[in-house]
Amino acid sequence: MAESMKGLHRTHRCTEVSNSDIGETVTVMGWVQKRRNLGSLIFIDLRDRSGLLQIVFDEPKVGSEGFAKAETLRSEFVVAVTGTVQKRTAAVNENLKTGDIEVIAANIRVLSESETPPFPIEENSLTKEDMRLRYRYLDLRRPDIQRNLMMKSKVSMLLRRFMEQEGFLEIETPILTKSTPEGARDYLVPSRVHPGNFYALPQSPQLFKQLLMCSGYDRYFQIARCFRDEDLRADRQPEFTQADMELSFVDVDDVIDVNERLLQYVFKEAVGVDVSLPIPRMTWQEAMDRYGSDKPDTRFGIELVNVSGTVSDCGFGVFTGALEQGGSVRGINVKGQGAMPRKKIDKLVEFAKGYGAKGLAYLAVNEDGTYKSSFAKFLTEDELMALVEKMKGEPGDLLLFAADKNKIVWEVLGGLRLELGKQLELIDKDQYNFLWITDFPLLEWSEEENRFVAMHHPFTMPMEEDWDKIDSDPGAVRAKAYDIVLNGTELGGGSVRIHQDDIQEKMLKVLGFTKEQAYEQFGFLLNAFKYGVPPHAGLAYGLDRMVMLMMQCESIRDVIAFPKVKDASCLMTEAPNTVDEKQLEELALLINTAEDSSCDGK
Ligand code: AMO
Ligand code: AMP
Repeated sequence: MAESMKGLHRTHRCTEVSNSDIGETVTVMGWVQKRRNLGSLIFIDLRDRSGLLQIVFDEPKVGSEGFAKAETLRSEFVVAVTGTVQKRTAAVNENLKTGDIEVIAANIRVLSESETPPFPIEENSLTKEDMRLRYRYLDLRRPDIQRNLMMKSKVSMLLRRFMEQEGFLEIETPILTKSTPEGARDYLVPSRVHPGNFYALPQSPQLFKQLLMCSGYDRYFQIARCFRDEDLRADRQPEFTQADMELSFVDVDDVIDVNERLLQYVFKEAVGVDVSLPIPRMTWQEAMDRYGSDKPDTRFGIELVNVSGTVSDCGFGVFTGALEQGGSVRGINVKGQGAMPRKKIDKLVEFAKGYGAKGLAYLAVNEDGTYKSSFAKFLTEDELMALVEKMKGEPGDLLLFAADKNKIVWEVLGGLRLELGKQLELIDKDQYNFLWITDFPLLEWSEEENRFVAMHHPFTMPMEEDWDKIDSDPGAVRAKAYDIVLNGTELGGGSVRIHQDDIQEKMLKVLGFTKEQAYEQFGFLLNAFKYGVPPHAGLAYGLDRMVMLMMQCESIRDVIAFPKVKDASCLMTEAPNTVDEKQLEELALLINTAEDSSCDGK
């Protein structure tokens, strides 16, 4: 039966009890991790968010009633124990912070009982994630998840402390708002008062933080919840948290300076990692050319080499064909892997095809200087030698080539590089490689929409020196945009914003907005800019991603208390859910059930 807390006060968390408390009376409360009966003694491991503490029940000390209670204890019962701290009589447990002490119970209350949990509450659980997420409230008791969430709390606190010291103001922006153009689909909320009208949940506070600059707040900061209806991946959730900032009267270097110091402070205080400054910078073009990615993992090599010039006149149609189509031929040199069995190479080819490659050409340089290759027969001996030389190929190396449009070649080789880095265990998990990626293209051609779209967002400032190309060669205009990358993950991104009417107008035109459409969507911003707007710039971090990288988690779900799964549903609450007819009526909504059932595949 559940007993009350009346008259009881917790004096310590489990692992706050220490050697210095020996002989003292303490009251601890928590969950029973495990009970062991040793004849006249009963031991329990008591768990709270701080860790484990051993409690000993000895009948003469705890009384017969207390001892009887202790006998009923099972895993996950919640108890309060008052007792005396003593040095452990049995073996010291070196794995526990409290491994050399124990509490001899004088009193116990069972605050609540527990059914047998569907899986054991333990570190590094082997239970399937689906099951754990269905019972997330139990999963959240596990020490590894608790450490992650405690770290997230600490990081938020450190960010706030740093931002405050730097003169930033924390200001909230609306959740029920209008669509922000960050490029993903919006989550919509129907309005009851305005039937047929919808709020959009913010993809980021972008427009509001720019307005705050217009209003003179100078330096804004917010730990902001953002919502994006996009395909989920290991590092993406439909709702996530940004550490978001905006600064007035600044340019690229000012934003980078504050953020480098922020990263140095937060990583040192949170996880003891030294970030040496300045953080290296790389242009987008260089990142793509060397790593096939705008978020390169620079903890290992296998860099891309452009061999287009070397193979332009060769007899291999796959290579020359790609060049004729305006594409490129690039390769990677997988050092010392020349003896890789054919089966394994075939797997790499399949992997490349998964990234959109039509094929993957390979050439292994044998120890005797001969080649094993899928395309050598199409090249003359001289052409082969030139290619191997360009790739810095040596006996024992495996060279892999992709020929296609640049975008595909980068994706394929960038993806292969990461896969090989993992497979060949080239990545040092204790290394933290920060990198700024700068000079992004302003625009990106969308095959789907057959027009240019903003690579970052429509308010990103073009580089002054490129602006004259906006009509003749829009794809060549670079932006004052920057991303901060850590070990191959985009940790954050931002840009200098356009504050001049004429540039903004032109930009919107290039993006295919008519003046009316632009005013319809974000007229409030364009109007605000007519009343004196300071030059401004900003950046936002993915806070969940930051903590995920700090804690070296595989998935972003491990740092979010109640995450969604791949289909954007919550297994615990079963959201999203149907609502009753009355709610739909109030919102003037009709559900198209025909459409609905085809989605279910019924
Ligand atoms: P951006 O769209 O690059 O920029 O987002 C900033 C950072 O937010 C994180 N992030 C996500 N994290 C988890 N799940 C997601 N679905 C997700 N999407 C993004 C990433 C990313 O780097 N308004 C601009 C910022 C600015 O210009 O100041 C913006 O939102 O870590
Ligand atoms: P094929 O002549 O089509 O049999 O191709 C010969 C070799 O070239 C095979 O190893 C293919 O995998 C490879 N290959 C085909 N298309 C491409 C491509 N676009 N880029 C690189 N290699 C390719």
